[in-house]
Amino acid sequence: MIATNNADFDWTLSSSDYRDPALFQRERKEIFARNWMLFSWSERLREPGDYVTGTVAGYPVFAMRDDRGRVRAFHNVCRHRGAQLLADASGQCGKLLVCPYHSWSYTRDGRLNKAVDFGSDASFDPEAWSLHALDAEEWRGLIFLRVKRGGPGLVEWLGPIHDMAADYPLEQQHYFMSKNRDCAVDWKVYGENYLECYHCRTMHPGLCAAMDIDNYRIDTYQREKFFHLHAPKRDGGLTRGLYFYRFPSLMLNLYDWGSSIATIEPLGAGAIRHINWYFFTDVSPEKAEENRKSAEWSAEIVSEDLAIITGVQRNLNAGVYERGPLSPKYEAAVKGFQDMVRDELGDRGPLRSVAAE
Ligand code: FES
Ligand SMILES: [Fe+2]
Repeated sequence: MIATNNADFDWTLSSSDYRDPALFQRERKEIFARNWMLFSWSERLREPGDYVTGTVAGYPVFAMRDDRGRVRAFHNVCRHRGAQLLADASGQCGKLLVCPYHSWSYTRDGRLNKAVDFGSDASFDPEAWSLHALDAEEWRGLIFLRVKRGGPGLVEWLGPIHDMAADYPLEQQHYFMSKNRDCAVDWKVYGENYLECYHCRTMHPGLCAAMDIDNYRIDTYQREKFFHLHAPKRDGGLTRGLYFYRFPSLMLNLYDWGSSIATIEPLGAGAIRHINWYFFTDVSPEKAEENRKSAEWSAEIVSEDLAIITGVQRNLNAGVYERGPLSPKYEAAVKGFQDMVRDELGDRGPLRSVAAE
Protein backbone atom coordinates (compact mmCIF):
# COMPACT_ATOMS: atom_id res chain seq x y z
CA MET A 1 0.00 0.00 0.00
CA ILE A 2 1.37 3.43 -0.87
CA ALA A 3 1.14 6.11 1.79
CA THR A 4 -0.59 8.96 0.02
CA ASN A 5 -1.81 11.20 2.79
CA ASN A 6 -0.51 14.73 3.10
CA ALA A 7 1.86 14.35 0.17
CA ASP A 8 2.96 17.71 -1.20
CA PHE A 9 3.13 16.41 -4.73
CA ASP A 10 0.62 15.29 -7.34
CA TRP A 11 0.31 11.87 -8.89
CA THR A 12 0.11 10.28 -12.28
CA LEU A 13 -3.23 8.81 -13.23
CA SER A 14 -3.87 5.23 -12.30
CA SER A 15 -2.25 2.78 -14.75
CA SER A 16 -5.66 1.41 -15.77
CA ASP A 17 -6.66 4.88 -17.00
CA TYR A 18 -4.10 4.53 -19.78
CA ARG A 19 -5.39 1.20 -21.06
CA ASP A 20 -9.13 1.02 -20.37
CA PRO A 21 -11.20 0.49 -23.57
CA ALA A 22 -14.40 1.78 -21.91
CA LEU A 23 -12.65 4.98 -20.85
CA PHE A 24 -11.23 5.33 -24.34
CA GLN A 25 -14.72 5.20 -25.84
CA ARG A 26 -15.72 8.06 -23.56
CA GLU A 27 -12.61 10.04 -24.48
CA ARG A 28 -13.31 9.48 -28.15
CA LYS A 29 -16.89 10.74 -27.91
CA GLU A 30 -16.49 13.45 -25.29
CA ILE A 31 -13.03 14.78 -26.08
CA PHE A 32 -11.91 13.95 -29.62
CA ALA A 33 -15.32 14.24 -31.28
CA ARG A 34 -16.13 17.55 -29.53
CA ASN A 35 -12.89 19.44 -30.08
CA TRP A 36 -11.51 20.89 -33.29
CA MET A 37 -9.06 18.36 -34.69
CA LEU A 38 -6.27 19.15 -37.13
CA PHE A 39 -7.07 17.34 -40.39
CA SER A 40 -5.17 18.69 -43.38
CA TRP A 41 -3.70 21.83 -44.88
CA SER A 42 -5.30 24.27 -47.30
CA GLU A 43 -2.81 23.81 -50.14
CA ARG A 44 -4.20 20.30 -50.64
CA LEU A 45 -7.63 21.70 -51.50
CA ARG A 46 -6.88 24.29 -54.15
CA GLU A 47 -9.92 23.94 -56.44
CA PRO A 48 -13.61 23.25 -55.90
CA GLY A 49 -14.05 19.47 -55.84
CA ASP A 50 -10.55 18.78 -54.46
CA TYR A 51 -10.84 16.44 -51.51
CA VAL A 52 -8.77 14.76 -48.80
CA THR A 53 -9.94 11.66 -46.92
CA GLY A 54 -8.90 10.50 -43.48
CA THR A 55 -10.19 9.70 -40.03
CA VAL A 56 -11.07 11.94 -37.11
CA ALA A 57 -11.65 10.34 -33.72
CA GLY A 58 -12.03 7.03 -35.52
CA TYR A 59 -14.67 8.26 -37.98
CA PRO A 60 -13.88 7.95 -41.71
CA VAL A 61 -14.37 11.46 -43.12
CA PHE A 62 -13.37 13.69 -45.99
CA ALA A 63 -12.92 17.41 -46.52
CA MET A 64 -13.66 19.06 -49.84
CA ARG A 65 -13.65 22.57 -51.25
CA ASP A 66 -17.13 23.51 -52.43
CA ASP A 67 -18.18 25.64 -55.38
CA ARG A 68 -17.90 28.81 -53.32
CA GLY A 69 -14.36 28.01 -52.22
CA ARG A 70 -15.35 27.04 -48.71
CA VAL A 71 -14.01 23.89 -47.09
CA ARG A 72 -16.71 21.45 -46.09
CA ALA A 73 -16.40 18.09 -44.42
CA PHE A 74 -18.57 14.99 -44.40
CA HIS A 75 -18.55 11.49 -43.05
CA ASN A 76 -17.25 9.25 -45.81
CA VAL A 77 -20.41 7.19 -45.90
CA CYS A 78 -23.20 6.99 -48.48
CA ARG A 79 -26.72 7.49 -47.13
CA HIS A 80 -28.04 4.54 -49.16
CA ARG A 81 -26.27 1.40 -47.94
CA GLY A 82 -23.25 2.88 -46.21
CA ALA A 83 -20.57 2.56 -48.89
CA GLN A 84 -17.34 4.48 -48.59
CA LEU A 85 -17.77 7.30 -51.07
CA LEU A 86 -14.12 8.16 -51.62
CA ALA A 87 -11.40 5.53 -51.46
CA ASP A 88 -8.29 7.52 -52.42
CA ALA A 89 -6.29 9.60 -49.96
CA SER A 90 -6.96 12.71 -52.04
CA GLY A 91 -8.21 13.73 -55.45
CA GLN A 92 -10.77 15.69 -57.42
CA CYS A 93 -14.35 14.45 -57.34
CA GLY A 94 -15.64 16.28 -60.43
CA LYS A 95 -18.93 18.16 -60.47
CA LEU A 96 -20.70 15.44 -58.53
CA LEU A 97 -19.58 12.95 -55.98
CA VAL A 98 -20.78 9.58 -57.25
CA CYS A 99 -21.05 6.62 -54.91
CA PRO A 100 -19.12 3.60 -56.27
CA TYR A 101 -21.81 1.15 -55.06
CA HIS A 102 -25.15 2.12 -56.73
CA SER A 103 -24.22 5.50 -58.20
CA TRP A 104 -26.15 7.85 -55.98
CA SER A 105 -24.69 11.27 -56.66
CA TYR A 106 -24.09 14.16 -54.28
CA THR A 107 -23.30 17.80 -54.93
CA ARG A 108 -20.14 19.39 -53.55
CA ASP A 109 -22.11 20.84 -50.67
CA GLY A 110 -23.29 17.36 -49.67
CA ARG A 111 -26.86 17.34 -50.99
CA LEU A 112 -28.22 14.24 -52.68
CA ASN A 113 -28.39 15.10 -56.36
CA LYS A 114 -29.96 11.91 -57.59
CA ALA A 115 -30.76 8.42 -56.35
CA VAL A 116 -30.41 6.94 -59.80
CA ASP A 117 -33.29 4.67 -60.96
CA PHE A 118 -34.52 4.31 -57.40
CA GLY A 119 -38.18 3.72 -58.34
CA SER A 120 -41.24 5.89 -58.29
CA ASP A 121 -42.04 6.05 -54.61
CA ALA A 122 -43.25 9.62 -54.14
CA SER A 123 -42.40 9.47 -50.46
CA PHE A 124 -38.68 9.50 -51.25
CA ASP A 125 -37.44 13.04 -50.74
CA PRO A 126 -33.84 13.63 -51.89
CA GLU A 127 -33.66 16.65 -49.57
CA ALA A 128 -33.74 14.29 -46.61
CA TRP A 129 -30.69 12.33 -47.72
CA SER A 130 -27.79 14.79 -47.62
CA LEU A 131 -24.43 13.53 -46.45
CA HIS A 132 -23.75 13.67 -42.72
CA ALA A 133 -21.70 16.82 -42.24
CA LEU A 134 -18.95 17.77 -39.79
CA ASP A 135 -17.88 21.27 -38.82
CA ALA A 136 -14.96 22.44 -40.95
CA GLU A 137 -12.86 25.60 -40.74
CA GLU A 138 -9.55 26.87 -42.02
CA TRP A 139 -7.05 28.75 -39.91
CA ARG A 140 -3.95 30.21 -41.51
CA GLY A 141 -3.56 27.45 -44.07
CA LEU A 142 -4.56 24.58 -41.80
CA ILE A 143 -7.85 22.67 -41.96
CA PHE A 144 -9.62 21.61 -38.78
CA LEU A 145 -12.70 19.41 -38.40
CA ARG A 146 -15.10 18.81 -35.54
CA VAL A 147 -17.21 15.66 -35.54
CA LYS A 148 -19.87 16.81 -33.10
CA ARG A 149 -21.31 19.91 -34.68
CA GLY A 150 -21.78 23.14 -32.79
CA GLY A 151 -19.73 24.90 -30.13
CA PRO A 152 -17.06 27.57 -30.31
CA GLY A 153 -15.67 28.57 -33.70
CA LEU A 154 -12.08 27.64 -34.46
CA VAL A 155 -10.57 31.03 -33.58
CA GLU A 156 -12.43 31.07 -30.30
CA TRP A 157 -11.27 27.51 -29.60
CA LEU A 158 -7.66 28.49 -30.30
CA GLY A 159 -8.11 31.33 -27.83
CA PRO A 160 -5.00 33.43 -27.10
CA ILE A 161 -2.95 31.27 -29.52
CA HIS A 162 -4.60 33.11 -32.41
CA ASP A 163 -3.16 36.49 -31.38
CA MET A 164 0.11 35.16 -30.01
CA ALA A 165 0.87 33.51 -33.37
CA ALA A 166 -0.33 36.47 -35.45
CA ASP A 167 3.10 37.69 -36.57
CA TYR A 168 4.40 34.26 -37.60
CA PRO A 169 4.13 34.03 -41.41
CA LEU A 170 2.24 30.74 -41.70
CA GLU A 171 0.63 31.78 -44.98
CA GLN A 172 4.03 32.08 -46.63
CA GLN A 173 5.08 28.60 -45.61
CA HIS A 174 4.56 25.57 -47.83
CA TYR A 175 4.22 21.88 -47.15
CA PHE A 176 7.51 20.02 -47.37
CA MET A 177 7.12 16.56 -45.84
CA SER A 178 5.17 14.40 -43.37
CA LYS A 179 6.10 11.79 -40.86
CA ASN A 180 3.31 9.58 -39.52
CA ARG A 181 3.93 6.89 -36.95
CA ASP A 182 1.65 4.37 -35.28
CA CYS A 183 2.65 3.58 -31.70
CA ALA A 184 1.37 1.40 -28.89
CA VAL A 185 1.06 4.37 -26.55
CA ASP A 186 -2.00 5.96 -24.98
CA TRP A 187 -2.69 9.53 -26.08
CA LYS A 188 -2.50 10.67 -22.46
CA VAL A 189 0.94 9.09 -22.03
CA TYR A 190 2.04 11.00 -25.12
CA GLY A 191 0.55 14.30 -23.92
CA GLU A 192 2.08 13.97 -20.47
CA ASN A 193 5.49 13.28 -21.96
CA TYR A 194 5.23 16.32 -24.22
CA LEU A 195 4.32 18.55 -21.30
CA GLU A 196 7.42 18.15 -19.18
CA CYS A 197 11.08 18.65 -19.88
CA TYR A 198 12.24 16.85 -16.76
CA HIS A 199 13.36 14.11 -19.15
CA CYS A 200 15.13 16.41 -21.62
CA ARG A 201 18.57 16.33 -20.02
CA THR A 202 18.54 12.53 -19.91
CA MET A 203 16.95 11.84 -23.23
CA HIS A 204 17.46 14.65 -25.72
CA PRO A 205 21.16 15.50 -26.08
CA GLY A 206 20.50 17.14 -29.46
CA LEU A 207 17.76 19.32 -28.05
CA CYS A 208 19.83 20.30 -25.02
CA ALA A 209 22.74 21.30 -27.25
CA ALA A 210 20.47 23.75 -29.07
CA MET A 211 18.28 24.87 -26.19
CA ASP A 212 18.90 26.76 -22.98
CA ILE A 213 17.41 23.98 -20.88
CA ASP A 214 17.75 25.89 -17.60
CA ASN A 215 15.28 28.45 -18.85
CA TYR A 216 12.76 26.00 -20.30
CA ARG A 217 9.32 26.45 -18.82
CA ILE A 218 5.72 25.60 -19.61
CA ASP A 219 2.84 27.99 -18.93
CA THR A 220 -0.50 26.24 -18.40
CA TYR A 221 -3.66 28.04 -19.49
CA GLN A 222 -6.13 25.86 -17.63
CA ARG A 223 -9.31 27.60 -18.70
CA GLU A 224 -8.30 28.04 -22.35
CA LYS A 225 -6.90 24.49 -22.37
CA PHE A 226 -3.52 25.09 -23.90
CA PHE A 227 0.14 25.18 -22.93
CA HIS A 228 2.76 27.67 -24.00
CA LEU A 229 6.19 26.08 -23.99
CA HIS A 230 9.20 28.36 -23.68
CA ALA A 231 12.37 26.90 -25.13
CA PRO A 232 14.97 29.65 -25.49
CA LYS A 233 17.83 28.97 -27.85
CA ARG A 234 21.33 28.49 -26.51
CA ASP A 235 22.67 31.00 -28.99
CA GLY A 236 20.86 33.82 -27.27
CA GLY A 237 17.63 33.60 -29.24
CA LEU A 238 18.79 34.50 -32.73
CA THR A 239 15.91 32.45 -34.09
CA ARG A 240 12.64 33.15 -32.41
CA GLY A 241 10.10 30.39 -32.04
CA LEU A 242 6.67 29.80 -30.56
CA TYR A 243 5.53 26.46 -29.16
CA PHE A 244 2.01 25.46 -28.21
CA TYR A 245 0.13 22.36 -27.16
CA ARG A 246 -3.62 22.89 -27.50
CA PHE A 247 -5.59 20.20 -25.68
CA PRO A 248 -6.33 17.48 -26.55
CA SER A 249 -3.53 17.01 -29.07
CA LEU A 250 -2.61 19.92 -31.33
CA MET A 251 1.08 20.84 -31.42
CA LEU A 252 2.23 24.02 -33.15
CA ASN A 253 5.95 24.81 -33.38
CA LEU A 254 6.27 28.05 -35.28
CA TYR A 255 9.33 29.82 -36.66
CA ASP A 256 9.82 32.63 -39.11
CA TRP A 257 11.26 30.23 -41.70
CA GLY A 258 9.04 27.19 -41.15
CA SER A 259 6.70 25.25 -38.89
CA SER A 260 6.34 21.80 -37.47
CA ILE A 261 2.65 21.05 -37.04
CA ALA A 262 1.61 17.85 -35.31
CA THR A 263 -1.35 16.05 -33.85
CA ILE A 264 -2.20 12.76 -32.25
CA GLU A 265 -4.92 10.62 -33.71
CA PRO A 266 -6.18 8.26 -31.03
CA LEU A 267 -6.51 4.70 -32.39
CA GLY A 268 -7.70 3.02 -29.20
CA ALA A 269 -6.82 2.65 -25.54
CA GLY A 270 -3.03 2.63 -25.55
CA ALA A 271 -2.66 3.28 -29.29
CA ILE A 272 -2.01 6.43 -31.31
CA ARG A 273 -0.92 7.71 -34.69
CA HIS A 274 1.57 10.55 -34.39
CA ILE A 275 1.11 12.84 -37.38
CA ASN A 276 3.69 15.51 -38.12
CA TRP A 277 3.87 17.91 -41.07
CA TYR A 278 6.80 20.19 -41.85
CA PHE A 279 6.35 23.48 -43.66
CA PHE A 280 9.06 25.85 -44.90
CA THR A 281 9.01 29.29 -46.44
CA ASP A 282 11.54 28.23 -49.09
CA VAL A 283 10.73 24.81 -50.55
CA SER A 284 12.86 25.24 -53.68
CA PRO A 285 14.95 22.22 -54.80
CA GLU A 286 18.13 23.99 -53.67
CA LYS A 287 16.81 24.11 -50.13
CA ALA A 288 15.47 20.54 -50.06
CA GLU A 289 18.48 18.97 -48.36
CA GLU A 290 18.62 21.65 -45.66
CA ASN A 291 14.86 21.40 -45.07
CA ARG A 292 15.01 17.62 -44.88
CA LYS A 293 17.83 17.78 -42.32
CA SER A 294 15.88 20.25 -40.23
CA ALA A 295 12.74 18.08 -40.30
CA GLU A 296 14.74 14.92 -39.53
CA TRP A 297 16.42 16.65 -36.60
CA SER A 298 13.05 17.45 -35.08
CA ALA A 299 11.64 14.00 -35.93
CA GLU A 300 14.56 12.41 -34.09
CA ILE A 301 13.45 14.08 -30.85
CA VAL A 302 9.97 12.63 -31.36
CA SER A 303 11.54 9.20 -31.96
CA GLU A 304 13.46 9.46 -28.69
CA ASP A 305 10.20 10.23 -26.89
CA LEU A 306 8.19 7.50 -28.61
CA ALA A 307 10.84 4.89 -27.79
CA ILE A 308 10.77 5.56 -24.06
CA ILE A 309 7.01 5.96 -23.74
CA THR A 310 6.37 2.74 -25.67
CA GLY A 311 8.18 1.06 -22.78
CA VAL A 312 6.11 3.09 -20.31
CA GLN A 313 2.90 1.87 -21.94
CA ARG A 314 4.12 -1.73 -21.86
CA ASN A 315 4.54 -1.39 -18.10
CA LEU A 316 1.19 0.34 -17.66
CA ASN A 317 -0.34 -2.65 -19.43
CA ALA A 318 1.62 -5.22 -17.45
CA GLY A 319 0.05 -4.32 -14.12
CA VAL A 320 2.90 -4.02 -11.60
CA TYR A 321 3.21 -0.25 -11.76
CA GLU A 322 0.13 1.47 -10.31
CA ARG A 323 0.98 5.18 -10.19
CA GLY A 324 3.86 7.46 -9.34
CA PRO A 325 4.60 10.93 -7.95
CA LEU A 326 4.95 14.02 -10.13
CA SER A 327 7.85 16.41 -9.63
CA PRO A 328 6.52 19.69 -8.20
CA LYS A 329 9.41 21.47 -9.94
CA TYR A 330 9.00 20.07 -13.46
CA GLU A 331 5.71 18.26 -13.90
CA ALA A 332 3.03 20.82 -13.01
CA ALA A 333 1.78 20.90 -16.62
CA VAL A 334 1.26 17.13 -16.50
CA LYS A 335 -1.22 17.70 -13.69
CA GLY A 336 -2.75 20.55 -15.71
CA PHE A 337 -3.23 18.15 -18.62
CA GLN A 338 -4.91 15.55 -16.38
CA ASP A 339 -7.27 18.21 -15.07
CA MET A 340 -8.25 19.08 -18.64
CA VAL A 341 -9.07 15.41 -19.29
CA ARG A 342 -11.17 15.30 -16.12
CA ASP A 343 -12.87 18.55 -16.99
CA GLU A 344 -13.87 17.39 -20.48
CA LEU A 345 -15.13 14.04 -19.26
CA GLY A 346 -17.42 15.95 -16.95
CA ASP A 347 -16.70 14.04 -13.76
CA ARG A 348 -13.87 12.60 -11.80
CA GLY A 349 -15.30 9.10 -12.07
CA PRO A 350 -12.88 6.92 -13.96
CA LEU A 351 -9.86 9.17 -13.46
CA ARG A 352 -9.57 8.73 -9.74
CA SER A 353 -7.41 11.27 -7.96
CA VAL A 354 -5.41 10.06 -4.98
CA ALA A 355 -7.02 12.70 -2.79
CA ALA A 356 -10.44 11.24 -3.54
CA GLU A 357 -9.53 7.78 -2.31
S1 FES B 1 -24.39 2.62 -51.03
FE1 FES B 1 -24.06 4.39 -52.16
S2 FES B 1 -25.42 4.25 -53.78
FE2 FES B 1 -25.81 2.46 -52.66
FE1 LIG C 1 10.78 14.63 -25.07
